[in-house]
Amino acid sequence: MIAIEKNKSIKKYTTFGVPVLTKYFAQFSDLEELKSVLSDKKLMKEELLILGGGSNLLFTKNFEGLVLKNNIKGISIEEENDSEVLIRSGAGENWHDFVMYCVDNDFAGVENLSLIPGNVGASPMQNIGAYGVEIKDVFHSLEAIEIKTGKLRIFNKEECNFGYRESVFKNSQKNEFIITSVVFKLYKTPTFNVSYGAIGSELKKMKVENITIKAISDAVINIRQRKLPDPKKIGNAGSFFKNPVISAEQFEDLKLRFPQMSYYKLPSGEMKIAAGWLIDYLGWKGTRKGDYGVHKNQALVLVNYGESEGKDIYDLSSLIMKSVLKNFQITLEREVNIF
Ligand code: EPU
Repeated sequence: MIAIEKNKSIKKYTTFGVPVLTKYFAQFSDLEELKSVLSDKKLMKEELLILGGGSNLLFTKNFEGLVLKNNIKGISIEEENDSEVLIRSGAGENWHDFVMYCVDNDFAGVENLSLIPGNVGASPMQNIGAYGVEIKDVFHSLEAIEIKTGKLRIFNKEECNFGYRESVFKNSQKNEFIITSVVFKLYKTPTFNVSYGAIGSELKKMKVENITIKAISDAVINIRQRKLPDPKKIGNAGSFFKNPVISAEQFEDLKLRFPQMSYYKLPSGEMKIAAGWLIDYLGWKGTRKGDYGVHKNQALVLVNYGESEGKDIYDLSSLIMKSVLKNFQITLEREVNIF
């Protein structure tokens, strides 16, 4: 039987690092340990939260339930031929370590996603993405345990219904499955994705002549280290908000008022606006109140410099949302999960 701890501080298991106690806490390293917890009927009456790398959540109060930390490890090759490879990773592997394994072995596909905080198991939950690539581009399938029955289920790509920072695991199947491993389809003959402007200019700056998987990964690491705070040094959860999508009509109107606004056109004809630009324009970037504030290099990221409370950071996010709504008539959505 695995240990069930009571009234446990889980501050160190989250990248925001705000104080929080959970009523119950347990960790599992394989399917048997997970199934043994799930078969405990009394414990399963509690509200359940599965923790991976703790990099996309903010606690605004103590958690009155059971936090289960997923530590399932292991990376293995499932299948390969001359051009492709299927790699399975345990959900509890650190995402960046997994990316480094792929880069070191010359398996292409995830190098643009270098240095994203969090664990592999959380990557499909919100279809993580950066620099022109999303998980859905390299996703093959995943295994998950159904909480109610303890049964193993395989999800293929279609069944995950990926969208921008979205999947079934955040919507119709929310809180129903625990992802235990993910299979990615990577390439031995790389098709590089350098469409995102910043990567091209970084490669030039690095004086890279022949693009390699490693060079792209290094470029992404450089850009991220410049723009985004390292959660080991300054508490944060990456982008706090999603980039909002607005209609072409609303866009035309805003563009007249704010010609410098940063945006991307979507295939649907709708426009995705850079929330970082909106927040930055309103003067929030770099603002600080006590031990929390808006990061100085990327206005989408809220930070905890030391001892702030989750509630204060949440309240700051509400103020930012109000000011964006008032000035741009755009409703921002939080990307970070709030508890
Ligand atoms: N911008 C500003 N001020 C800022 C931030 C951004 O003017 O403070 C402008 C930039 O100049 C640029 C545009 O907004 O023209 C876009 O900025 P950036 O390239 O930094 O990307 P983003 O849209 O702000 C998204 C993801 C990031 C991801 C980057 C790179 C979301 C919510 N965020 O940010 O993901 O790393 O693109 O692909 O989609 C995360 O999800 O945690 C995350 C960090």
